[in-house]
Amino acid sequence: MCGIVAAVTQRNIINFLLHSIQRLEYRGYDSSGLALIDQNNKFVRVRSIGKVNQLIKKTKNKKLFGKIGLAHTRWATHGKVSEENAHPHVSSHISIVHNGVIENSFKIKSFLKEQGYIFYSDTDTEVIVHLLHWEQKKTGKSLLEIMNHSLTQLKGNYSMVVMDSNNSSKLIAVCSGSPLIIGLGIGENFIASDQIALLSVTKNFIYLKEGDIAIVQSEKIKIFNKNRSIAQRKIITSDVQYEYIKKGKYKYYMEKEIYEQPKSIRNTLKNRLKNNETIYFSELGIKEKNIFSHLEHIHMVACGTSYHAAMVAKHWFESLANIPCDVEVASEFSSRKLAVRKKSFFVTLSQSGETADTLTALRISKKLGYLGNLTICNMKGSSLVQESDNYLLTKAGVEIGVASTKSFTTQLTVLLMLVAKIVSIKKKENNIEKKIVKILTILPRRIEEILKKNKQIQDIAKKLHNKKHMLFLGRSDQYPIAMEGALKLKEIAYIHAEAYLSGELKHGPLALIDKDIPIIITAPKNSLLEKTKKTIQEICARGGLIYVFSNEEINLETNITSLKVPYVEEIIAPIFYTIPLQLLAYYIALIKGTNIDQPRNLAKSVTVE
Ligand code: AGP
Repeated sequence: MCGIVAAVTQRNIINFLLHSIQRLEYRGYDSSGLALIDQNNKFVRVRSIGKVNQLIKKTKNKKLFGKIGLAHTRWATHGKVSEENAHPHVSSHISIVHNGVIENSFKIKSFLKEQGYIFYSDTDTEVIVHLLHWEQKKTGKSLLEIMNHSLTQLKGNYSMVVMDSNNSSKLIAVCSGSPLIIGLGIGENFIASDQIALLSVTKNFIYLKEGDIAIVQSEKIKIFNKNRSIAQRKIITSDVQYEYIKKGKYKYYMEKEIYEQPKSIRNTLKNRLKNNETIYFSELGIKEKNIFSHLEHIHMVACGTSYHAAMVAKHWFESLANIPCDVEVASEFSSRKLAVRKKSFFVTLSQSGETADTLTALRISKKLGYLGNLTICNMKGSSLVQESDNYLLTKAGVEIGVASTKSFTTQLTVLLMLVAKIVSIKKKENNIEKKIVKILTILPRRIEEILKKNKQIQDIAKKLHNKKHMLFLGRSDQYPIAMEGALKLKEIAYIHAEAYLSGELKHGPLALIDKDIPIIITAPKNSLLEKTKKTIQEICARGGLIYVFSNEEINLETNITSLKVPYVEEIIAPIFYTIPLQLLAYYIALIKGTNIDQPRNLAKSVTVE
């Protein structure tokens, strides 16, 4: 979704701004722009639709110079994709970039039109900048002084950075509804919506809190909290490694992130498995007993791939810990009246920690009498981590590809550790914990083994890339994996795919079976395998085209393509069987030539509800 970068420095900032918004491309956008204050204290603004490269082309030969500036990647919400609608927007001496949506913009716009303001775009952002100008003109006060009153008139999300050509030494950042961070340099400071944009200039960040206003100058920073008192905010040193944001030998980030999974899982496990038998979460420390000992129910809420991880965890909570667990899509959780179970503990899951639906669900949950809450998240300074009572980090490293891969398998790794820990706390004995520690230790190796099947999976992709529809079947804890496989295929290969519970096939979808709809089945060797074989026979009997991934030889009929995968321990089979489905979607998309890292219409982190 939209991305913000701003800088106040003592050097020409143009190249930095261009380079940094390029770093935000992965978030999804349709146009971009920047504004600088030049040597004559005038705004210079360049905007373009399409990729940041287009913007770079437009700035070439212009000899742009400015020590203070704003840049933005826009994801259209109010108004079509056009240069006029791209940010920054300007009203006389004020310029602004904004992430979020102003819900009452139409009302304010008609008021401002009556005051004589002319609108050059259809955006809600232009409404903010004219409103600021109007307030300043009316009161004669400084931008900071009028900010408070202006902000109370806006309804919605309005994280933004404002620049004033009458005062070219400072930027004003407002954090309300979507994340903003300040990057601390030496004699220069930066603002961005995502630390990735700033990693080339700093590793030290301040994460602004909801309601904060910050005045950022090259040598100093002043932050006011939502009550407008001076606030001290912690400086966090990022541990994000630069290598994560380079593609290296890979063609796409998604490919790199798939192959990175053994390493990501090792990082997730690092310093958490003690003496080969206990699990230790430094984020919780000694509090963990208090947090988990009284819970009798778990309610997990997430979106997309993170929701699928929660669905797998439901099986683990119920089968290993005997704790009832409900799982819900975040937007649904927030859309209904719900009855909270007795002693229920609320868990959110998110790669980005910025998904608006999940954040809203967390905020609602706090008023509903849950025993406590926890988020499992990949981004340390994210809003979900900041707003949750407890958090566990997945430590997957930065994930750039829009399609989640390593964030899913590391979420599952953390979830399995969490289940084991809770079992030990509640049962006061640690046999299951010991067993899981052992299995998790070999998980990265198991994944390395399945990744070696890539050639065979490429061959399957060659047979499937021109199909219009596909069905993914799974049973029990493999059903969320079927859902994940179908989601991957839809989002990067644009092929309609559906996941179905194997046992439900005969209750309707069997009617769809013909030679044009391939059916993908993951069938680990376990107590359910015989039932799955029966489903396979039913499909074969109707001429269906089956592709099975199993660690047992399955050659019941001629119309089955069966890929024998290495052995895996039953409990980690959901994590393991995700890998061939990720690879399958990736190789199909590669043959189709889609934009794998930035699929059409999608954003990496969905910060609007
Ligand atoms: C998955 O490939 C998607 N990109 C998407 O479903 C994603 O998982 C969802 O938007 C939730 O994001 P989050 O984990 O950052 O909250």
